[in-house]
Amino acid sequence: MTAVDRCSDKTRAWVCEAVRVIEADANRSADTHLLPFPLPAEWGVRLYLKDESTHPTGSLKHRLARSLFLYALCNGWIVEGTPVIEASSGSTAVSEAYFARMLGLPFIAVMPRTTSPEKIALIERQGGRCHFVDEPTRIYAASRDLAAELGGHFIDQFTHAERATDWRGNNNIAQSIFDQMALEPDPEPAWVVVGAGTGGTSATIGRYTRYRRLTTRLAVVDPENSVFFDAWRDTEPGLTGCRGSRIEGIGRPRVEPSFLGQVIDRMIKVPDAASIAVIRRVERVLGRRVGGSTGTNLWGAFEIVAELKAAGTTGSVVTLLCDGGERYSHTYYDDEWLAAQGIDTTPYHAVLDEFLATGTWNG
Ligand SMILES: Cc1ncc(COP(=O)(O)O)c(C=O)c1O
Repeated sequence: MTAVDRCSDKTRAWVCEAVRVIEADANRSADTHLLPFPLPAEWGVRLYLKDESTHPTGSLKHRLARSLFLYALCNGWIVEGTPVIEASSGSTAVSEAYFARMLGLPFIAVMPRTTSPEKIALIERQGGRCHFVDEPTRIYAASRDLAAELGGHFIDQFTHAERATDWRGNNNIAQSIFDQMALEPDPEPAWVVVGAGTGGTSATIGRYTRYRRLTTRLAVVDPENSVFFDAWRDTEPGLTGCRGSRIEGIGRPRVEPSFLGQVIDRMIKVPDAASIAVIRRVERVLGRRVGGSTGTNLWGAFEIVAELKAAGTTGSVVTLLCDGGERYSHTYYDDEWLAAQGIDTTPYHAVLDEFLATGTWNG
């Protein structure tokens, strides 16, 4: 890439236009819906799903990708022609490829060679290129190397998610949730339940509830093969694991820089079979398929709803519908894949059937 004079009028004009283009995308987009999840009214506890799958790129990562590009543009890290590199096999890369194409920039997603063909196709459909590494934990180093080699910018969601997002407002996911709860019977939820990949979403919600002086508590769910739960419980930020999570988008083999344990009030460990049992069970309730991390969220939310009901406490609980299920037809919705993974959802279906019928939790 030819050297760009970052202080030139030409470059400054390009950056200003790039910011306008990204802000225009936000201006064209309607906010995502907050859906009531049907539970018996007599329980006195209401559950809501924040549906982030309706973003133009299909997941909660559309908000983050927009913030990461604005952050990099306004820091002078991205100028005309800068190749943008990200360590992501998933939703973030799909959303970032969308914005890179909008700005006419090359985009490369660095991911494990085991990444699902659906995800690769989604990134390529947005104009992105996929770069594969055999060792999943090498995605960070490989992204840095590629950025150095190409004179590009490693946009690095894991480091910048918590600081690129405006946690005080600016239509972040927390502000959107609380604004949409304003006319509900219990507008201030007792709990918000989310998962953690970068940790950016939970950091934003935890900060926002403190900044707005709300009583709402934050619960973070964690799948198998992730170190977040143990690291948070034992205050061990250096903890690492050897395997990646099977629930795409959440759970990490290291404590990511954007994971802010101090704003989390509670963590819940969720078996992968439970997450998958939930998404198969709620397909009937919602009339559509959702992604694995939504199942993990709902398992945690159901447990908390049951506790509030058992305590005779009325109130509301909010969780996230992170992405659609169409991306997982060859994994979570495929019985052969489940069998090959040794995942048996039967015992968890029994827990869900009892909960949805009586409100009692034996998870
Ligand atoms: C589908 C899905 N759910 C949840 C998350 C977790 O969000 P965060 O990275 O903000 O912790 C991600 C993150 O990539 C995701 O892709």
